[in-house]
Amino acid sequence: MRQCIAIEMPRSDTAGSSDKTLLIRHDRHHDTHEKADMSTVLITGANRGIGLEFSQQYVADGWQVVACTRRPEKSDALNSLAARHPQQISVHALDVADHTQIDQLAASLPHLSIDLLLNNAGVYTGSHAAGVFQAPDYETWAYAFLVNTIAPLKMAQAFSPHLSRSTQKIIATISSQMGSIADNNSGGSYMYRSSKAAVNMVVKTLAIDLKTAGAIVVALHPGWVKTDMGGPNALISPTQSVSGMRQVIRRLTPEDSGRFISYNGQMIPW
Ligand SMILES: NC(=O)c1ccc[n+]([C@@H]2O[C@H](COP(=O)([O-])OP(=O)(O)OC[C@H]3O[C@@H](n4cnc5c(N)ncnc54)[C@H](OP(=O)(O)O)[C@@H]3O)[C@@H](O)[C@H]2O)c1
Repeated sequence: MRQCIAIEMPRSDTAGSSDKTLLIRHDRHHDTHEKADMSTVLITGANRGIGLEFSQQYVADGWQVVACTRRPEKSDALNSLAARHPQQISVHALDVADHTQIDQLAASLPHLSIDLLLNNAGVYTGSHAAGVFQAPDYETWAYAFLVNTIAPLKMAQAFSPHLSRSTQKIIATISSQMGSIADNNSGGSYMYRSSKAAVNMVVKTLAIDLKTAGAIVVALHPGWVKTDMGGPNALISPTQSVSGMRQVIRRLTPEDSGRFISYNGQMIPW
């Protein structure tokens, strides 16, 4: 049965434009003059790791940041950023596994226009060990799907009215190269890999379904990043990862919708 989600996005006035036009549009965010327009990004899991870095960099670039965190009262770094930039950041409680909370947050921001929805929140569950075939904990696996796979679609659905008010309408979901079936040469990590492979399909399908609405929907691989999830042996810093992904996002054109793109701009095979 085909699932029908109520996305009501008026056709973008930039849909169908040439790449050149769209590149100019995105590059203009870097003009000091254009910062007065203040694009708006909503970020899930904005309190630490890659999400916090996105918040910091978008604030520094003059954006409005709707920063979502499960526990605002424990999000010291995010709260301190918000205290330094009270005009640019609002902090909101959001557990992306809780669909009622997602709907309530969307309803509480009735006039907000969102240019970029960043589905960043994610969980790594299970063992990293490759070559180990163990009976998985099925409840934990289901939870990984709730957060990594189902939440990005639920967020897109709940915030579609907000995206429809923007001329940019970008939905970027932080996936992982570990969700690439073509790239899987090492095994292991069943729960995480499958949840990210599945969200890649969500992204591709949303890109098709929202094409006429003028939305650009992509999956991004952040690299192997030094965060709580990536660990200290990871190859790049959050600063490098997020700078790269922001550049990718800035250069997106409608032709990129439905693609899986690394932080360094390379396409990743599904
Ligand atoms: N680091 C890497 O090398 C790497 C590589 C590939 C992909 N990724 C992806 O990049 C994204 C960010 O990862 P990271 O490295 O920054 O991980 P992290 O340091 O572990 O941070 C994860 C973030 O997700 C939030 N989160 C988890 N479950 C949530 C829920 N149910 N509701 C709301 N927020 C929730 C966490 O909030 P709390 O603080 O409340 O737990 C935290 O803000 C994830 O989607 C991850 O899969 C990371």
